[in-house]
Amino acid sequence: MIEKETHMTEQEIQNLIDRAIVAREKTYSPYSHFGVGAAILCEDGTIYEGCNIENASYGLSNCAERTAIFKAVSEGHTNFKALAVVADTEGPCAPCGACRQVMGEFNIPIIIMRNMKGNIKVVSIEALLPFSFSSNDVIDR
Ligand code: THU
Repeated sequence: MIEKETHMTEQEIQNLIDRAIVAREKTYSPYSHFGVGAAILCEDGTIYEGCNIENASYGLSNCAERTAIFKAVSEGHTNFKALAVVADTEGPCAPCGACRQVMGEFNIPIIIMRNMKGNIKVVSIEALLPFSFSSNDVIDR
């Protein structure tokens, strides 16, 4: 069922989740004590991991999802298949609004949300960020 919707194999999905779980171990979150891990799958199969990185000036903290995305983009990747995010939440961990906007920028089609109990929810970027502001709104002016 998940495989059909995402065009990913069960193994690809599980592998991406596993990498997000590993990434979460690197969390730098001395203020919230809330660790988040993410992993992004590039079109060519490369995976980048990311964790949340906090700051004493709280507003400068960076979410795990954006860490993973920025790592990938800074290495030259702009085409993506999916992103997985994990945290110790009650239900599958939902990305914040800022991360959704960044996911939208790069058209990451599939978002895999998971908690540490193993609950999973797989959604499209359109479902996560409807009516979004995008490059179409600013290009060609
Ligand atoms: N956080 C993420 O890394 N991703 C999200 O989608 C939600 C929030 C981080 C930011 C902060 O370091 C901590 O979780 C608590 O908000």
